[in-house]
Amino acid sequence: MEFTLPEFTRSETVTLQLRSLFELAGYKLFRMGSFEAYDFYMQNRSFLSSDDIITFTGSDGRLMALKPDVTLSIVKNTKPAATRRVYYNEKVFRKSRDTGEYREINQMGLEYIGGVKDVSEAEVVSIAAKSLSLAGEYSLDLSHMGFIEAVLAPFSGVFYSDALVALRNKNPQLMRQTAAAANLSGELTDKLERLAMLSGPFDTAVELANELASDFEDARQPLEELIKLRRTLSAETPEINLRLDFSILNDVDYYNGIIFQGFIRGIAHPVLAGGRYDNLMVRFGKNQGAVGFAVYLDELERSESFDRKPEDSRLNIALPKGRMGESVYAVFEKAGLGCEGILEESRKLIFEDKEGKVRYFLVKPSDVSSYVEHGAADIGVTGKDLLLETGADVLELADMGVGKCRIVVAGKPDHEENSTIPIRAATKYPNIARGYYAEKSSPVEIIMLHGSIELAPLTGLADVIVDIVESGNTLKENNLIVHDEISLSSARLIANRASWRFKQHEINALLTSLKELL
Ligand code: PRP
Repeated sequence: MEFTLPEFTRSETVTLQLRSLFELAGYKLFRMGSFEAYDFYMQNRSFLSSDDIITFTGSDGRLMALKPDVTLSIVKNTKPAATRRVYYNEKVFRKSRDTGEYREINQMGLEYIGGVKDVSEAEVVSIAAKSLSLAGEYSLDLSHMGFIEAVLAPFSGVFYSDALVALRNKNPQLMRQTAAAANLSGELTDKLERLAMLSGPFDTAVELANELASDFEDARQPLEELIKLRRTLSAETPEINLRLDFSILNDVDYYNGIIFQGFIRGIAHPVLAGGRYDNLMVRFGKNQGAVGFAVYLDELERSESFDRKPEDSRLNIALPKGRMGESVYAVFEKAGLGCEGILEESRKLIFEDKEGKVRYFLVKPSDVSSYVEHGAADIGVTGKDLLLETGADVLELADMGVGKCRIVVAGKPDHEENSTIPIRAATKYPNIARGYYAEKSSPVEIIMLHGSIELAPLTGLADVIVDIVESGNTLKENNLIVHDEISLSSARLIANRASWRFKQHEINALLTSLKELL
């Protein structure tokens, strides 16, 4: 019987190619069921990207969960002391942070479990690079948990968490503030600030890392491990595209040595992530080491609908409509990124310059971070208030120094908290409000509003509001006062994580001009 093969989608083709790559490297297919006991995931919840797991009750009354992760099951099913080379092609079930919907995610992955030596680590990273090269122009970024722990050793408690966020989000200002709050010397602060921004082709970046980390005794060994790994990999594959970037970090309870992430030009999110996770093995009482990675097949599929040419080197900027956008645009214009007609009154939403350097999208302020996180825009400007509210996964490169305001709890002057009944808080920032009251362990009932928030306590709709205050006039004119300050806010320059890899030159040029202008 004759039949014609259907045309494969990009992710189907890559799946078959990956299977062949993994099999030829000596890895065997690992199959597993779709669910595990819920308890199993709860005991290892910080290994998972989210606590939200789909559960159901098994026939014996036990609470079961649709698997949000594969690695944990492979580790559980590996005998102590055994060496294993396995790969998988499975669906995992996770909740989307944006929409709150549960999603089915197609993942392929590979795990080496056993006596992990330098050579097996290099084997896995080399397969990761080959996997990426099947999908397009790639960047494989290396980092090291040991290095990160060493340079963050001067921080403890809340300072440590803030410094970790500063590193992860490439937020030099936050690193500087945290170092100042932790009373670190000016010299150490400068170095940490530069380390937060350190990113680039491996050989140049590692030299700078060596120089900046000279004061951190324990950082030397991890850097040597990275250099050795780089040497082994380029001996085998001279054209390998490795970068160094310490914004890649994982939970230290599970990961210990090298960690890595892969990006493909034209795809907005990382398509591959992995690392050395001996600490996870220890938690399971197993004495082997382990290193592995996952490939996110849906990301590859999605890139087919991306209508922009991957080689497009224009900087796509999401600019908030309104007052803040206008003052921010003035700064971009001075930095050489002007665009004719953008300030004229019109309904047009996209503006491109003639030289092919920049394209602006005019978007609602609260939508800027979505455009950037999902890669429609490479960079954007949005308020810190909105970043805190959405929790968008973006790099936070600079404080633009405009749009300064405070996020506060306000209400009538005679308002007093009564901890025996939930406080009713009206707000357009439900996540910030919920977080604030959770920290105080106060019960709260959130009332979601979209504007004229000050009206809520005046009409009896709410006891207080959680809102931004700029000049304070709106509160004053409505006889309301600030009861507590939650945080400061101002306009931030944010960037998509993948754009940072492929348009770093353009973004850095802009950052340099901004530094001079701000
Ligand atoms: C914001 C905020 C306050 C006001 C504070 O509202 O929600 O109402 O600005 O500014 P002020 O301290 O300078 O008076 P916005 O102007 O965005 O309008 P909205 O009420 O429609 O949200």
